[in-house]
Amino acid sequence: MSHSSRKVVLSGLRPTGRVHLGNYWGAVKNWVDLQADYDCRYFVADLHALTTDYADTSTIREATLEAVTDWLAVGLDPEKSVIFVQSRVPQTAELALVFGMITPLGWLERVPTYKEQIEQLRERDLGTFGFLGYPVLMTADIALYRSHYVPVGKDQESHLEICREIVRRFNGFYGDVFPEPQALYTATPKVPGLDGRKMSKTYNNAIALSDSAPEVEKKVMSMVTDPGRARRADPGNPDVCNLYPFHVLYSPPEEQKQVDFECRTAARGCVDCKKHLIRNMNAALEPIRQKRAEITAKPGFVKDVLEAGNERARNIASETMERVSDAMRLL
Ligand code: TRP
Repeated sequence: MSHSSRKVVLSGLRPTGRVHLGNYWGAVKNWVDLQADYDCRYFVADLHALTTDYADTSTIREATLEAVTDWLAVGLDPEKSVIFVQSRVPQTAELALVFGMITPLGWLERVPTYKEQIEQLRERDLGTFGFLGYPVLMTADIALYRSHYVPVGKDQESHLEICREIVRRFNGFYGDVFPEPQALYTATPKVPGLDGRKMSKTYNNAIALSDSAPEVEKKVMSMVTDPGRARRADPGNPDVCNLYPFHVLYSPPEEQKQVDFECRTAARGCVDCKKHLIRNMNAALEPIRQKRAEITAKPGFVKDVLEAGNERARNIASETMERVSDAMRLL
């Protein structure tokens, strides 16, 4: 099942519920593809959710199960990958504590996202130990599975840089226990939301992988196209159209060329263009919806997958912790 010569890939996402097309094209699709060449570990970062959402935890459990259901529906395979929940691996906390001992405060305070987020989420008190320690916990996630590669978006760059510094410092003090993890930046295609801003659950402008065919149709029909194209007879510009990036993702190359040409020459209108896209999107999403329906028809299936994954993760983690206490000369 797992070839010991293969490098380890690890990544996690905070539990935000049903996966939308932005999450899919930005992260999860890549996770699925990496399974062919690496030993992969993927997890729901529920402890990381607590760094900002500690006061209201009411959605975390449901969001965790919904997310993992989608991961399985798009092809994460529990036979190939370890799929688990961060908080169910207690060694995560143990290693985070150890890393906390050796992480200078200055490193954490100068993470650019740290002050930014405190400013942005003013309604919450983020002057907490846990929030400052976000990158320390993330380092524990990565190092616990002795990961080589970490597929993440560019937004995680500063976190990954700290992870590497913490790991280097640990290895420098106590000996080489951990590989220095490398970011694998996902080439993220453009996935705008229905209103043209970045697709995001918070903006309420997302298409979920599990939206029904009529929901997809309704959402696509409501999308903003080229704002400069006021009348059907005006030529349009796919470069500034919200819809066109979706043709790039869901229509075959010859059709993309045709769409581009017919838009620029006003040979087709936006309504036809949307209908064309809806056909292709629904054709691509249908097998995912079916797989999801099969999964949800089996009560307890997702929980069972996670139980098994948590167990495998704990086994790897406890072996790592043995090496850690040896290296640190703890008993
Ligand atoms: N910080 C990541 C995010 O917000 C989630 C995450 C937590 C993660 N631990 C990780 C990603 C370890 C990669 C590896 O998206």
